[in-house]
Amino acid sequence: MDISVAKAVVFTGAGTTLAVARRFTEACALPSLVTDITPLSAGVPTFCAHDLAVFAIPSYGGRVPAPAAEKLARMPLVDGVPAVLLVTYGNRAVDDTFAELADIVSARGFVPVGGAAVVAHHSLMVDVAKGRPDAEDLAVVDALAADVCARLAEVPSAADAALTEIPGNRPYRAFGGVAFHAAADPQTCTRCGVCASVCPTGAIDPADPASTDCDRCVTCLRCVSACPEGVRFVDGGEALVAARAAFAERCAPRQPSYRI
Ligand SMILES: Cc1cc2nc3c(=O)[nH]c(=O)nc-3n(C[C@H](O)[C@H](O)[C@H](O)COP(=O)(O)O)c2cc1C
Repeated sequence: MDISVAKAVVFTGAGTTLAVARRFTEACALPSLVTDITPLSAGVPTFCAHDLAVFAIPSYGGRVPAPAAEKLARMPLVDGVPAVLLVTYGNRAVDDTFAELADIVSARGFVPVGGAAVVAHHSLMVDVAKGRPDAEDLAVVDALAADVCARLAEVPSAADAALTEIPGNRPYRAFGGVAFHAAADPQTCTRCGVCASVCPTGAIDPADPASTDCDRCVTCLRCVSACPEGVRFVDGGEALVAARAAFAERCAPRQPSYRI
């Protein structure tokens, strides 16, 4: 089948998933479009027959981040568009992320034809997987792009290149979020509203951006990376310091990036 465009749809808090998606589309050596669907207001692009769809998300608690799952589940139906599943993870595990992502996009008519789990710097437990993805991780992304493009060129339809096994369990692992959320120092916050505009869940009131609605916040930390003043931070005090230290110890051994 002829593929004319690699179209990546990305959910990202700290930016590593966006970088991995860009790397994949570059390695495809096709015209590409990369869309960041993270902000609540951002829409998902439409897909057509000669597109290669790329769904790139981080694993949160071994699951698809809830705001991404909700948005992708509302995509218009397509008919057999090939899809690549890219999952970043912070050197712990992806658990059921691929199964959930495959179920969501397959229900909209996409056909998963390849995928990879790519280790990236843990955005919350920041002492884990520093400097990743590195060259070894990115080589997995490049090899996946080359393989998917070569296989699709040889088959009449995506169904002929479909993945036969997708890792993960059903029902998916339960994940209720984490206890830590972002906040801003009200003394130094300039109330510019950038954080509110990029939040995927509307957890930040543009009129009072120094506070966060913790029931809505999914701790993606997009607000922290987007804050032009650098005054947003993960509010966790000693409990966060202890959680990071324990996690760093538990997840110290290097985990691989791998194709599925
Ligand atoms: C709320 C939350 C939950 C996470 N859960 C996991 C997990 O279950 N397993 C894992 O290996 N990494 C986990 N991570 C780490 C992210 O998957 C990883 O840092 C990813 O690269 C973040 O992508 P981003 O930079 O595009 O935001 C989690 C990160 C956050 C913020």
